[in-house]
Amino acid sequence: MNKTLKTTAWRAIVGAVSAILILLVTQIGAMLIGSGVIALGLSKSVGNVVSAILYPLFALLALKLLCGKLLGVTLSDCRITRYKVKPLWAAAAFLMPAIAIAGLLMTEGHWDNTQMDGTQFADSITTSVFVTGLAVGAVEEAVFRGVVMKALEMRWNKAVAVIVPSALFGAAHALNGKLSLVSFIQLLVAGSIVGILFSLVTYESESIWPAALMHAVWNMCMASFILNIYTEPMDSCIFNYVLESKSTLITGGEFGAEASVISIGAYFIFIVLAAFLLSKKRRRAGIVLLTITAIAAANVFYFRTVDITGDLPDRGSAFAAEIPEYRFLILVNDKNSVPEGYKPDLTELSNGERVDSAIYPDLQKMFDDMRSDGIYPVVSEGYRTQNEQRQMMADKINAFENEGYSKMEAERAAREYVAEVGTSEHELGLAVDINADKEKSDNQEVYDWLWENAYQYGFILRYPADKCSVTGISYEPWHYRYVGEYAEKIYESGLCFEEWLDKESEVK
Ligand code: DAL
Ligand code: ZN
Repeated sequence: MNKTLKTTAWRAIVGAVSAILILLVTQIGAMLIGSGVIALGLSKSVGNVVSAILYPLFALLALKLLCGKLLGVTLSDCRITRYKVKPLWAAAAFLMPAIAIAGLLMTEGHWDNTQMDGTQFADSITTSVFVTGLAVGAVEEAVFRGVVMKALEMRWNKAVAVIVPSALFGAAHALNGKLSLVSFIQLLVAGSIVGILFSLVTYESESIWPAALMHAVWNMCMASFILNIYTEPMDSCIFNYVLESKSTLITGGEFGAEASVISIGAYFIFIVLAAFLLSKKRRRAGIVLLTITAIAAANVFYFRTVDITGDLPDRGSAFAAEIPEYRFLILVNDKNSVPEGYKPDLTELSNGERVDSAIYPDLQKMFDDMRSDGIYPVVSEGYRTQNEQRQMMADKINAFENEGYSKMEAERAAREYVAEVGTSEHELGLAVDINADKEKSDNQEVYDWLWENAYQYGFILRYPADKCSVTGISYEPWHYRYVGEYAEKIYESGLCFEEWLDKESEVK
């Protein structure tokens, strides 16, 4: 395999692009046949296994054709050899996700596992192990570390062959979803580093199979329906570890844990190992290592600058959360975030909205009494998850931008109406937005009734019209906050919640 193979730039580029197209087209083909099998009445698991066998089969056949016709090489010239994996790389395949998972589980979070029946369980397992794991691992490595890398190496050199497909690989993953710019870049960086890792492993072994195995096991653990480590649980995943860190550094942003610095750290350990092994064989290893170090440094620097959500100051609120009789006095506003790990026990209302179970009886009584006064309210917003709050802010900013505001103006305006993620009372489950049902009553009637009576049921108007400069939020006649027995005192003081808490702490 020491013959020097050459090709033209044109052929190298067409070869690389075609290989990526083969990846996409054969995937669709295999999935369609799998769906056909399910439509014929066989189980989803059988459909999954059929797709998982056909996908690499179709892809390898098409790649073989492409290599022969366009590049004049065989699959084994492209390091798509017979299956061989050194014990060292087999161990690495399991160690790498193990390190990442251990690191992520050490960060703040909680388990929220899904109850599944046998069929759903079998579907999740077969998709994860055979499709997302083995099939995707094999095809992506055959394409990127096999054909694309070889094509570029034949025209240019090994450095280009490592860097370009890695960046493409990162981009391919980053494009695979609707991500914000920050998450896109974060994933691009993480994906490129993984690409470099798999390239080095492939060079070290002169075969794609060790990288394919590492890729497969990684996907089974980190990108499948078996384990989901993310800021939100997923119903289709068996085990869910819900990350509570506010730092995108830890959570990996919108894409998730694969782009977390903890995962990047795990990739890195094995990049160093591969580079070390390679350095005994190749003089250029030094340059590769330097490039990798530079990318790593840029990456760390990048993550530092994107960690904009940071940790919010928690003045007093965490304290209140821990003392049962003060629980309803937790202050949450732009300076006081929802305490880390706060998880209310929720009760679902008939319209699907949820509230802290402790406020439910008073809320129900208030609604009953309002209805007997002939006024018909609805809870239009109750508990919100962090992600829902984040989405709400994004939607509001968008709406202002569509009205012609600049990005900065839109962000500033949106903050007057929507609280930043981690700083909304809705994330406590103690706030409710109450509006009219619109058929039997109008909003104004509901707001008037609430203003006069809500305090008797433990609720206060949280954002009064004359207190915007204190609360930082515009007048919201619908937003009521449960404070329990303190409601009457606060109502009668004429102060807003912030002012009343300040006064109380001075008295004490
Ligand atoms: N609209 C209120 C301020 C919130 O988003 O919590
Ligand atoms: Zn509200």
